[in-house]
Amino acid sequence: RILIVDFGSQVTQLIARRVREAGVYCEIHPFNALDDARLKAFDAKGIILSGGPASVTETGTPRVPQAAFTQGVPVLGICYGEQAMAAQLGGAVEGGHHREFGRAEVEVKEPSALFDGVWKPGDRKPVWMSHGDRVTRLPPGFRVVATSQNAPFAAVADEARRFYGVQFHPEVMHTPDGAKLLRNFALNIAGCAGDWTMGAFRQRAIAAIREQVGKARVICGLSGGVDSSVVAVLLHEAIGEQLQCVFVDHGLLRLGEAEQVVRMFRDHYNIPLIHRDASDLFLKELAGVTDPEQKRKTIGRLFIDVFEAEAKKVGDAQFLAQGTLYPDVIESVSFTGGPSVTIKSHHNVGGLPERMHLKLVEPLRELFKDEVRALGRELGMPADMVNRHPFPGPGLAIRIPGDITREKLDLLRQVDAVYLDEIRKSALYDDIWQAFAVLLPVRTVGVMGDGRTYDQACALRAVTSTDGMTADYYPFPHEFLGRVATRIINEVRGINRVTYDITSKPPGTIEWE
Ligand code: XMP
Repeated sequence: RILIVDFGSQVTQLIARRVREAGVYCEIHPFNALDDARLKAFDAKGIILSGGPASVTETGTPRVPQAAFTQGVPVLGICYGEQAMAAQLGGAVEGGHHREFGRAEVEVKEPSALFDGVWKPGDRKPVWMSHGDRVTRLPPGFRVVATSQNAPFAAVADEARRFYGVQFHPEVMHTPDGAKLLRNFALNIAGCAGDWTMGAFRQRAIAAIREQVGKARVICGLSGGVDSSVVAVLLHEAIGEQLQCVFVDHGLLRLGEAEQVVRMFRDHYNIPLIHRDASDLFLKELAGVTDPEQKRKTIGRLFIDVFEAEAKKVGDAQFLAQGTLYPDVIESVSFTGGPSVTIKSHHNVGGLPERMHLKLVEPLRELFKDEVRALGRELGMPADMVNRHPFPGPGLAIRIPGDITREKLDLLRQVDAVYLDEIRKSALYDDIWQAFAVLLPVRTVGVMGDGRTYDQACALRAVTSTDGMTADYYPFPHEFLGRVATRIINEVRGINRVTYDITSKPPGTIEWE
């Protein structure tokens, strides 16, 4: 396995994804959570040092434990990682030169194991740069193997010790050959086998679940989303009838979704499933609640209450299964020290495991979202389940600005169903990160036939994104939008106006509340 030392770059996770795409397992650890002993204990076959926002030229800035360079293990430093390595091995780094941001070109000067089969001397290749400082004197043993206009040491190598440094970012898409360079490092230089596949993961995960759980019962909260669905199917394969799924139906799901969840898990997979329809309770408690955070808090509280009541009925359960993913557990490097601002609070089963004395089973803790999807496919789950768009815990409640009623929910469900139907028919679903309709608290005048209408307006939203942190609106063809609008107004009584939301995130958020 490969150890990725995080110096706080925005794109450290991309390094991990590229390494895993090469079939090599890797983990990200913040530089300040490592010391010589821990680094040695990790027993990596190769170490990658990430980029980061600090400047090596200032005192007190991040360094990797020196043991990284004394174990005979290959090291690849990227951007800040290259500079830190140079500084720690006796080279020099300076600031105040020309800054280089964005597209740049490197010229390959010498062959290197890092470039094998990808670049050869004389090649000029596009790369992505983002740096202010640069290496100005090489540590002993190093040679320059590629240069760029503003980074004379764009790539450096000590082939004998197998230490490599690149000023550019091989992990981003804008460095087209970057994935191949990382693959070279992980497979050829570090000597990893490249056999970390979903098939192998599935077998290991099943063995680990059996070992952890023994003969005890496991409760799994099912929401219909990708993560909890994959957890349920994986657990069922591992422990069969010891698994008990609980589906708390808050009545805020899309059209036909609750029925789908029940059909799929109870009927298709034969997984023991409690379906608790609590929509009356949720609607009653949500009546008159208009503030978005208040909605979330109300839903989160009720969800835990109902889930806990159902879980208690299961009896003798000792474990709670959760679809925690790797991005949720990576410790991040914080330079400010303070907590980051909560834009929106997300609810989960917080506090429940402690109260009910349940231990957690989190079989997806090592995986990124796209790997969870790959695991779902590996488990034979249907594509429309595995490729589902993310759906927020509070569901349609945060897509109805203002107070929530059953009538509004029904109206929104119909609009949303027509919209998604058209998206699927046009084969656009898989190009989009999330698509949904919002019911606006506005009535507007329209004309239908000879009559005047005074009905509600709705907004459609569709975004592209890789992690939900930033997003761009999806550029539908105008005729597609026209067709959807016509269908919605013709088919959904009560809606007479359709708008399309073209706000990116930031400054907007994906959801309207
Ligand atoms: P925003 O609206 O903050 O959404 O740009 C980012 C991602 O998070 C989802 N989201 C939520 N998920 N509970 C959830 O489980 C929530 O309260 C919540 N609010 C937003 C949103 O759908 C998008 O994928």
